[in-house]
Amino acid sequence: MSQQSVETGIGKLTEIWQEGHSLPREFYLSPEIYERDIERMLLRHWICAGHESSIPTAGDYFLFEMDRESVIVMRGHDGIVRALMNVCRHRGSRICTRESGHASSGVIACPYHAWVYRTDGSLHGARMMPADFDKSAHSLAQIELRIVAGLIFINFSKGPLGLDAVTETINSSLKVYGWHRARVIHQERYLIDANWKLCIENQMECYHCAPSHRDYSRLHSQAKPGVEESTNRMLARTREFGIDIPIQDHWALQARAGQEAGYCRRYAMSGTAVTGSEDGGPVAPLMGDFPDYDGGTTFVYVGPLSFFIAYTDYGAIFRFIPKRHDQTELIVTWLVDSKAHEGVNFDRGRVTWLWRITSESDKKIIEDNQLGVSSRFYQPGPYSFPIEASSHRFVEWYLHDVNEHGEG
Ligand code: FES
Ligand SMILES: [Fe+2]
Repeated sequence: MSQQSVETGIGKLTEIWQEGHSLPREFYLSPEIYERDIERMLLRHWICAGHESSIPTAGDYFLFEMDRESVIVMRGHDGIVRALMNVCRHRGSRICTRESGHASSGVIACPYHAWVYRTDGSLHGARMMPADFDKSAHSLAQIELRIVAGLIFINFSKGPLGLDAVTETINSSLKVYGWHRARVIHQERYLIDANWKLCIENQMECYHCAPSHRDYSRLHSQAKPGVEESTNRMLARTREFGIDIPIQDHWALQARAGQEAGYCRRYAMSGTAVTGSEDGGPVAPLMGDFPDYDGGTTFVYVGPLSFFIAYTDYGAIFRFIPKRHDQTELIVTWLVDSKAHEGVNFDRGRVTWLWRITSESDKKIIEDNQLGVSSRFYQPGPYSFPIEASSHRFVEWYLHDVNEHGEG
């Protein structure tokens, strides 16, 4: 199919999208639309690549992989964290192939013909090349990287969206929970056989929580009758601690001009629960500025792919990373206070319990959703308002973004 006919076809599909309804089938199945999503939306937005505490020492690195791209997120010997493209400047091989590692002699070597790079991405040595070969012109490509409250954000585009609004959102929420001095204790990856948009639509609504996440629903009052009253009581209690985490709603089409989209809101836990644990009781020492467990939880979103949940004793990062048009990886990363010790004042199994079982059930329901939308009998159906309003808001934002940024 020519690029023009692809464009015309997609234009027609956008026109037939009926407001208030899910997307036409092709948006979830077509490799061409997926390519367009990557180019026009996902490469333009900031994505959370991980947390600084995973690479504390010079030479430490981890890989972040999305679609066809692989990024080496490395702490250089100057202490600076960089996002280096994992593409050798000789003939393009991947250089690092392990999920994480350490440049033990201060360099990383390409496994193909052994060109050697320093931890800042500059080329240190290239065997059997002519004497006048210019090594300084063959550094690894680098993309934008910023760190906010310990969270590492990367951006593949040349003129990235501003991060000031998101920085403000994170500093007034996750930083209050001490995420800048927190420590990653565990990470799980869930390969979901579904288009990335079905993952985000699912992430944005809690219509499915009662039927699909019994334990989540038992512990959280979000999307339950009376949530306003219990949340107001919780917020008043938090204010007694001198902590006020403001609502920030600059996500999706409400992003400030030229800025990355961000969102923050707090909800009360249910009944006597104070955290996301099996019995609702604390599973790790308090984090950040909280002098007590206040019975609240904070949700933060950044851009279209990165989501964060903060309890007073632990936090979790959720990223939905597209791999192919019909496959998305959910990476869940758990954080506790850096002074907490495993086996002494926390148990990894108890800290990770809720979001392991919840993510496993999300994988299943999203995959079943993909199977259903793949059917010839699928028709876009109506969202339930207000409980699915955020999924609808995402779909509107998505269509706007991919149509607005045609040249990107
Ligand atoms: S491709 Fe890396 S050294 Fe040849
Ligand atoms: Fe879910």
